[in-house]
Amino acid sequence: MKVTGIVLAAGVGKRMNSAFPKVLHKILGRPMISYPVDALKAVHPERIVIVAGKWMDEIKKALKDDAITYAIQKKPMGTADALLKAKRYLGDLDGTILLCNADTPLITHYTLKKFLNHHRVKRNTLSFISFNTDSPSQYGRVIRDESGRVCGIVEDKDATKRQKEINEVNSGIYAMEAEALSCIKKIQPSLVSGEYYLTDMVEIIYRENGKVGTYPIKDSIEAQGINTRADLSRAIDMMRARIISKWMDEGVTFIDAGRVFVEPAVLIGRDTIIYPNVYLEGNTAIGQGCTIYPNVRIIDSSIGDDAVIKDSTLIEESRIEGSSSIGPFAHIRPRSIIGRGAKIGNFVEVKKSTIGSGSKAMHLSYLGDASIGDGVNIGAGAITCNYDGRMKHKTVIEDMVFIGSDSQLVAPVRVGKGAYIAAGSTITRDVPAGSLAISRAEQRHIEKWALRKKTEHRKQKTENKKQKTKNR
Ligand code: UD1
Ligand code: CA
Repeated sequence: MKVTGIVLAAGVGKRMNSAFPKVLHKILGRPMISYPVDALKAVHPERIVIVAGKWMDEIKKALKDDAITYAIQKKPMGTADALLKAKRYLGDLDGTILLCNADTPLITHYTLKKFLNHHRVKRNTLSFISFNTDSPSQYGRVIRDESGRVCGIVEDKDATKRQKEINEVNSGIYAMEAEALSCIKKIQPSLVSGEYYLTDMVEIIYRENGKVGTYPIKDSIEAQGINTRADLSRAIDMMRARIISKWMDEGVTFIDAGRVFVEPAVLIGRDTIIYPNVYLEGNTAIGQGCTIYPNVRIIDSSIGDDAVIKDSTLIEESRIEGSSSIGPFAHIRPRSIIGRGAKIGNFVEVKKSTIGSGSKAMHLSYLGDASIGDGVNIGAGAITCNYDGRMKHKTVIEDMVFIGSDSQLVAPVRVGKGAYIAAGSTITRDVPAGSLAISRAEQRHIEKWALRKKTEHRKQKTENKKQKTKNR
């Protein structure tokens, strides 16, 4: 049976008090609208139409999905008008329409599938997902006739005092047969807001003896609409909890499950332990048996099995191989590869560099545009000088090299296999394999310098005193 998915996203979202549209506000790194769109996709509709307004281009850019069709509603005149715009765009529709508001991101595809099935089994002309809530004020209330049949939806703005007391509300998710669309034209604008309400279809179909029904869901979280920043914050927390709970089922330990943020596309291996205040973002994949200590943020990176990421570390677009140790306070910048068993320690910044397996840079280093072999030791404070003010240059450090503390490697430069760089050296030329490079001033001693300095100081003091008495 043919299904067309429609997402309404042309509203202004005034209650968000924002310079950009509500549906592009992010929930765990992804725009709000992408959630209902993905849930719809999982139902395999023939096509998905998004009704967008002034921000259509921004929405297109955010979703990057050529399979989606867009219909424009230039002026947001209400949800019924938005649906009418989609209809115009689609021409003669047949089959079932599954319609979601774009601001209902917590809905799951499981529920959508069950809902669609329910709609078909009941042979309704129109069905909608409803739920009960103790705080119904931002939802349309479900009105029932004496026999308990649904006969309308009344918006909060338009509701009487008695209707406001109703706890059964509309989620903004509908399934309707294409023929139901013919009644949109009969919808009159609300006397209170001037908007054309899609929800008025319920009353019209009821009056015309069509079959209208609700699909009540128990988990009202799924149907939460986002209208304000407070709603958004709650939705982020709910989505967060949902993802964390899934990873707990998959065998991941969270020391404080309430304070870890894992974006939807992230993967985490079994027996990995995650401490509080960790952010795992984008297309990050964490291996098995890893430990991620507090305040770590990992973006679009892969972490091999048994790696340890110590406190307050930032890793971006990089690959960290298994059994390595990164941090505390390390910054791994894009396009870096940290080899197996390597150690990157305190206050070390790595940029666009490859570090071989078992190599170590434990303290206060900058390694940029470097290719570093296996078993290399980078001493404390050693840095690559990769930038000449105009261009970036490469540093090559071959296997088993020892770089003494506080050395500078002025790129382009190559340090041959097994070579040693003496501490405090500034290396400007290639170092042959197996040699020691030393480029610092030789140490000399000035005998009795300290004693002389002391005597001079004393003399000066007596002189100053004399001057003072004279001036008095
Ligand atoms: C709507 C429903 C309400 C339901 C609630 C569930 C109507 C009239 N009311 O109310 O019964 O309980 O959702 O969350 O439908 N939009 C457009 N064009 C417009 C107006 C809105 O595309 O002209 C889009 C918005 O971008 C949004 C969705 O429709 O994604 C819902 O609009 P919103 O203004 O948030 O409706 P609610 O007042 O929440
Ligand atoms: Ca809403």
